[in-house]
Amino acid sequence: MNRPSFRYPNTRPEVRVDEARTLPAAYYTDPELFRRELAAIHYAMWLHAGRSEQLPEPGSFFTVRFAGVNVIVLRNAAGAIVAFHNTCRHRGTLLCKEAAGTLPGRIRCAYHAWTYDLDGQLLSAPNMEKVIGFDRADYPLGRVACAEWDGHIFINLAPRPQPFAEYLGGLDAKFAPWRMAELKRVERKVYHLNANWKLVIQNYSECLHCPIAHPLLNQYSHYLSGDNEPPRPTWLGGRMDLRDGVETLSLDGKSGRPPLPGLAPEDRRRVYYYALLPNLLLNLHPDYMLTFELWPIAVDRTDIVCDWHFHPEAIARADFDPAGAIEFWDLTNRQDWELSDLAQAGIATRGYRPGPYSNREELLLALDRFVLERLARADAEPSA
Ligand code: FES
Ligand SMILES: [Fe+2]
Repeated sequence: MNRPSFRYPNTRPEVRVDEARTLPAAYYTDPELFRRELAAIHYAMWLHAGRSEQLPEPGSFFTVRFAGVNVIVLRNAAGAIVAFHNTCRHRGTLLCKEAAGTLPGRIRCAYHAWTYDLDGQLLSAPNMEKVIGFDRADYPLGRVACAEWDGHIFINLAPRPQPFAEYLGGLDAKFAPWRMAELKRVERKVYHLNANWKLVIQNYSECLHCPIAHPLLNQYSHYLSGDNEPPRPTWLGGRMDLRDGVETLSLDGKSGRPPLPGLAPEDRRRVYYYALLPNLLLNLHPDYMLTFELWPIAVDRTDIVCDWHFHPEAIARADFDPAGAIEFWDLTNRQDWELSDLAQAGIATRGYRPGPYSNREELLLALDRFVLERLARADAEPSA
């Protein structure tokens, strides 16, 4: 175990054992710290909510639900994507109870029929005619910021969101050759984890566990072939190489599909793994895209929505068969989720003490520092 690799020498900067340790247990077990994290991170940053193709026409909508949040994302009459808090301005009732669907040009509350247009303006409010000072214009639906990037829809619950381009921090240019806007979703799997959201990103951000937990992945992509970028304020990422003869990550390592159009030759031999903080994990393969949305439900519960997206020309072929890619990642995901749940269970015991990170776990340390900095910043500006 742990013999040095001569092909992939450990060239990453050294770390000091007393400066690179895992977080105290409370960050994984304390509901109050979880609430503070939500306020400082999830309620303050851009969140991946879905894909533009989920809203094909005016009135199309889907809802986003996680701890303390329920948002309607829809396409308005003008064709723009907008989002609102899913709560009536009369007495707060949930407006859309379905996960997705099509609205008939307006949103009507099931309780007393307050009715809103697709821009959130209150059109009618029965039985309010003798309420002195009541003005419909004062009660639009609560607006949530929206942005689109290459087919991805993001929402932001903050009153003054960070500029979206600044949030992307150059990833839009970096990943433009994958032409993600063209890709179509072929499969969705939803997983329910008994683990804190940070454990999922930590698991994602290192492959030292790959030879132990993912023999098939390690057979197709050497666990030390990764090359991480320096951590950024809003994302952490790196890439790994496919071994000789391996075309993509699928059960048999074969693709049966052309590479995505526009990819450079070297990118047909790599898989990119990027965590856009705090809720999108983006895997870019030579021939398909995998997305994971992470939704924190409780301090020790996270829902993960995993989608497989392929190029329409590949999908149109008579021999299109995504099963190998789907099954490869479903298998690998389940291995990772089990480890994340085990990490949660062990950290929650009285015996847990923060442990030392490897210098190859620098992205995990960066995630911990991101969380600590965000919490400290929120404490310094409680009104932000
Ligand atoms: S709560 Fe919505 S109309 Fe009364
Ligand atoms: Fe893994």
